[in-house]
Amino acid sequence: MRIFLTGATGYVGSAVLQSLVRAGHEVSALIRNPREAAHASLFGTSPVVGDLSEPQTYAAVAETCDAIVHTAFEASKRGPQVDRQAIDAVLAAAARRADRGQRAVVVYTSSLWVLGNTSGRAAEDAALRPTPLVGWRPELERLVLDADRGPLLRAVVVRPGIVYGGSRGIVADLLKTAANGLVRVVGDGRNHWACVHDKDLADLYLRVTTNPDASGVYHATDEADERVADIVESVARHAKGLPDIRHVPIEEARAKMGPYAEALALNQIVRCPRARALGWVPTSHSVAGSVARLLEELRAKSEAV
Ligand SMILES: NC(=O)c1ccc[n+]([C@@H]2O[C@H](COP(=O)([O-])OP(=O)(O)OC[C@H]3O[C@@H](n4cnc5c(N)ncnc54)[C@H](OP(=O)(O)O)[C@@H]3O)[C@@H](O)[C@H]2O)c1
Repeated sequence: MRIFLTGATGYVGSAVLQSLVRAGHEVSALIRNPREAAHASLFGTSPVVGDLSEPQTYAAVAETCDAIVHTAFEASKRGPQVDRQAIDAVLAAAARRADRGQRAVVVYTSSLWVLGNTSGRAAEDAALRPTPLVGWRPELERLVLDADRGPLLRAVVVRPGIVYGGSRGIVADLLKTAANGLVRVVGDGRNHWACVHDKDLADLYLRVTTNPDASGVYHATDEADERVADIVESVARHAKGLPDIRHVPIEEARAKMGPYAEALALNQIVRCPRARALGWVPTSHSVAGSVARLLEELRAKSEAV
C-alpha cells in the first residue's frame, strides 16, 4: 500500500513507521524538520517536508495514498486546534479519493485517557468520560468516525494506553528518574494504568491499516491491569541504588503539572476485544514484569542516539 504517515519522528509514529516499512509498504512521511527529512529518506521513506498546521504542504500527497495514518501531535497550546486542522485536511483528501472511486483509510490516534476513570472493564464501546487534558478529543474522534463510507473510506480510531518501550514516554522517564534516585508518584499509586508496548501498538496500526474489514474504534493495551505502585516497585527494585519514592498529593501535582496530573492519577481497567478480533495479540504482557528488558531497550536506544 501507499501510506501517508504523520508523526514519523515521534515516539508512536517511529514505531509505526518501522512496522509499515518492514511489512513492505511504501511510506510518505510528513516531517517538519528538513534535517530529519534527509535522515528519513535513508530508511527508504519518502519525506514530505511540511507542517500539520499548513495542509497545503501535505494534502496533495495524502490524496495519492491508499492510507493516511495520523500519529503526529503538536505539544503546544494550539495542539488541539492543529489536530483539528490536520483531521479536516486528511478527511477531505480521503473523501476526494472516495469520490473518484478510489479506496482510502484514515487512522486517527486518540488515547485511552478519553475514557477517564473506568468502571468495570472498559471495551471499545464504553462511554467516554475524558480526563480534562483530552476533553477536546472525543469531538475529533467523532469527526473521523462519521467520515466512514464503508469499504470506500474506512475510518479508524486507535486509542493507545500509556506506551512503553524504547527511550521515550512516561515509563522510560520513570526508569530514568529511578536511576537518578527519586521517583514521584501522583496520588497513592493504587490506581491502575492501561499500558501497551510500542512494538505491539505498531503491529495494531499495521493491522487496522491493511485489514479491509477494519473500521471504528480500537483499544490498545496489554490488559495487564497494573497498579502504578506495582510498576514503581518493580522499577525501584531494578534500579542500581534503591530510589526514594515520593507520593505527591493530587492537589499539589495539579498545581505543578496542570491537568496532566489528573491523567496520571486515572484508574483504568481496559479491554481490547475489537483489536483482538483482528488477530492482534500483544507480545509484551506487563510493565512490571518487563523492567529488565525495558532497561536494556532504554540503554540500546540511548547508545544509538
Ligand atoms: N506516548 C504515549 O504514551 C501515548 C499514549 C496514548 C496516546 N498517545 C497519542 O499519540 C500521539 C503521538 O504521541 P507521541 O508520544 O508519539 O508524541 P511525540 O513523541 O511528541 O511525537 C509527536 C510527533 O508529531 C510531530 N509533530 C508535532 N507537531 C507537528 C507539526 N506542527 N507538524 C508536523 N508534525 C508535527 C513531531 O515532529 P517533530 O519530531 O518535528 O517534533 C513528532 O513526530 C499523540 O496524539 C498522543 O496523545 C501517545
